[in-house]
Order: sequence, then C-alpha cells, then structure tokens
Amino acid sequence: TTSKNYFPKDFLWGGATAANQVEGGSNEGGKGLSLSDVYIFDSSMPKERWTDQWHMMTHKQVEEAQDPNSPHYYPKRKGTGFYYHYKEDIKLFAEMGFKTYRMSIAWTRIFPKGDEAEPNEAGLAFYEAVIDELLKYDIEPIISLSHYEMPLHLATEYGGWVNRKVIDFYLNFVTAMFERLQGKVKYWITFNEINAVKHHPYTSLGIIEEGHPHIEQAKYQGAHHQFVASALATKKAHELMPDCKVGCMISYQLLVPYSAHPDDIQKTVEAQRESLFFTDVQARGYYPAYTERMFENKNVKIKVERGDIEILRQYPVDFVSFSYYMSSAISAHPETLESAVGNLITGGIVNPHLESSDWGWQIDPQGLRTALNQLYDRYQKPILVAENGLGAVDVVEADGSIHDPYRIDYLKRHLQQVNEALHDGVDVFGYTAWGCIDIVSASTSQMSKRYGFIYVDQDDEGNGTQKRSKKDSFDWYKEVIATNGDTL
Ligand code: BG6
Repeated sequence: TTSKNYFPKDFLWGGATAANQVEGGSNEGGKGLSLSDVYIFDSSMPKERWTDQWHMMTHKQVEEAQDPNSPHYYPKRKGTGFYYHYKEDIKLFAEMGFKTYRMSIAWTRIFPKGDEAEPNEAGLAFYEAVIDELLKYDIEPIISLSHYEMPLHLATEYGGWVNRKVIDFYLNFVTAMFERLQGKVKYWITFNEINAVKHHPYTSLGIIEEGHPHIEQAKYQGAHHQFVASALATKKAHELMPDCKVGCMISYQLLVPYSAHPDDIQKTVEAQRESLFFTDVQARGYYPAYTERMFENKNVKIKVERGDIEILRQYPVDFVSFSYYMSSAISAHPETLESAVGNLITGGIVNPHLESSDWGWQIDPQGLRTALNQLYDRYQKPILVAENGLGAVDVVEADGSIHDPYRIDYLKRHLQQVNEALHDGVDVFGYTAWGCIDIVSASTSQMSKRYGFIYVDQDDEGNGTQKRSKKDSFDWYKEVIATNGDTL
C-alpha cells in the first residue's frame, strides 16, 4: 500500500444528501407530491415490505398517498427538516471544512405537477437561498437535478419516463434551474443512479411495475428518454454556462466472479455491463456494441426517434460519478445463488472474504479502488465518488455523545483506497460522503439506518426534536479534511 498522500490540493472533500431524504416541508412553498412522498413506514409491516415497496410500488399505495386523509406515515414528506434547518446544517458542514456539498433539487418545488408552463418562484428562491448559504462558506455546490423525486403527477397522468413528453417537462425544469443558478453552480449531475431503472422502475422512472404488461420494454424505453434528456440538458447547460461541468451518475457495485469457473467469469462481465451500459451511453455518447444482444435477451425493442443518436453523440457528459457501498459476487450456477445479499442493485451472492453491514451490504474498501480504475480505464474522464458510507444504528450515550468507530473505520478504509486509486493515476476530483447528516433511508424509509457525521434526533415513526448533534466521526472527518488526507 501507498504511504504517501496523493490527494490533490484542490480535492473536493464533502458530503451528499438528496432533497427527498432531508428536506421535509412538503406543504411549504407550493410543493407538489413526488414519487418519494409515496413511501410509507410502518414498523408493524413485515421487514421485507420496507424494501419491497422500493422495488415494487403498488397502484393502491400510489392512490392512498394522494388521499389527504391517508392514515399512513410518509417519512420522506418529513425528511429531517433541512427545509427549516438548512442554515444550521450548512454551518456544521462548514465547521467540518467541507469544500463541497452534493444536494438535489425537489423537482416538485419548481414544477409541483411537472407539466406547468412556468416555474414556481417560491421553489427557485428556496434553492437560491441554500446555494447562497453554501457560497458564503466557500462550499462548492454539486447539484443532482433528479434524485428519485419526479412529480407524482407525471407518473399517474403520463405513465412516467416511458412517455416521451417527459423529456420536455424535465428540460423545462432543468432550464429553470440553470437560469436561476448560473454563475453560482458549476457542477451538475443530470440523474442520480440512472442504472437504477433496472431494479426500481417506479423510483427512477415513475413506472408502476405491478401488473405491467412488458416492464423490461418500458424500463429501457424510459432509460432511452432519460439518455436523450440528459444529453439535451448537457447541451443547454453548456450554452448557458460555458465553464460548467455536467456529469452522469450510476450506482456502481463492483461485481466479482464467485469462482474461477469460465461460466462465472462471463456471467460477471455481463452482469457488470447491466450497469456500465448506462455510463457507456452517457460518457461515450453511443449505445455500446453489446446492446443488441442484451436487448435481444430481454426481448426489448426500443423506439429511437430521428436525431436521438446524433444528440447522444454530440453531448456526452464531462465527468463520471458513482455511488459505491459494496461489492457482490456473481455466479452462473443457480445452486450457489441461495445466499443472495440484501442489496439494491444486483442479486449477487455472499463473498466469503468480506464482512457485511447490519443491512447485509458487503463491505469491500479495496473494491472502491478497483471500481475507480475500471471506470477511468473505460472513460478517461474525471471521476467523483458521489456517495459512499455506512448505514448503521447509532446509540446516544447518557451525556449526549455518540461513538461511531464503525463508521470512522468504514470511511477511513475507503478513503485510503481513493488515495491508492489516485496513486494509480485515476483522476478523482472529489469525494462526497453519503448522508453526511442523518437522513431517511432511500430503500427502507427508516431513520435508524444512519449515515451521518451529524446525528438528528428523530425515530422511524417521525418522533423526536430534530435536534442536531455531532458524532465522533464529525471531528475525525474534520481532521481528515484539514490535513487534506494526511491523517488517513
Ligand atoms: C443510493 C441512493 O442508492 O444509496 C441514496 O442514491 C440512498 O438515495 C443510498 O440513500 C443509501 O441507501 P439507503 O437505502 O441505505 O438509504
């Protein structure tokens, strides 16, 4: 291993969150209902349902969510109160020395239903105020334009991204953001974890899978529309802000063959392509050669309009970003698939060489170095580690302190591997630790799956004061940033 520090002087150290997981204030400023506002939390539900609703949204749940008298608790409408506490939260980020903060925009604050002609001023003003607060502390904003929070109306009335009209609605939205924030925001990400369309089409595309006649077709048609939308957003961003940088973002779970059997090797290449496919299109600007066979196997034929291919070619992204939480082992042999890992993206199997988090996510710090090398070899574009972190239960001691050595250990080991990748020559320009302040979990809607350096007093049912307090990891990360990684 490398003992030298390879972090560049201007490395963007920071943290990341998403609007739907932190903001709350769902009735403020004319905000409309988003896809994420439909997730419920109910501790009496069987645990599998907590994540199942993420993978398989039901029509009934969507209907109930639109009823103002719905008896359910919707955690993502409450978030952790960033909408009210953003000044306090950003001050704490600044105290840790953040150079950057990756955040998303709730589309429904700007276009509450998605198909309005004009943007909502209250929403624009809110985000401008948040950005100004960041700039006050010299924190560089990185904005994810769409992070699982499109207007619900676009799903119920238009069928989500499978409908080509959504491209225009998205462009109206992003153009409003570019126009309002130009000169203040340099880094933009068009879609969070765009490859998630494969595993949770509701959350990513607003397509309800339950009873769908040809879901695979819908997923890839929706993905194609997102590719075109992303390319046109990139074009628009460059026209309005010549110095800006636009990035793509995937959930990158490193996949390794479970055995050296040739079947497992080939299967791993194919499984990894299921994710790389998305970045291939966005970073290289064309559908890769393997697309035809992949679509053939899935019985998918997408409709590509005249001009789409040219648009993809002309406006690839400037940088690549990804979330990294775990790796997973792949086997072609069904008998070894018994021990599936509880993860978001692939049905991989447990790798006996690794430990798992309490949620069954397999911890593989060195896999981050491998992932960075793979992505850089493939695209030769600057890379941002847009998300990485450990979801864990934290305990508040009698004196109010919170000792989270497990989180420090996780982050430290991953950051050491970023240093290794930098030594390998990979152009990594930033690292934004996921859920830098506690948030509502995306996949389970729990509050008790915590990622933060900053604790928020709130439980799974939404009870609590929302008071913020520092965990041990707060001072640890502050020191890492202050020394530009020397203390890792
Ligand atoms: C990523 C998402 O998939 O993983 C985040 O971009 C999410 O929104 C993160 O929070 C961690 O997942 P979870 O389910 O633990 O919140």
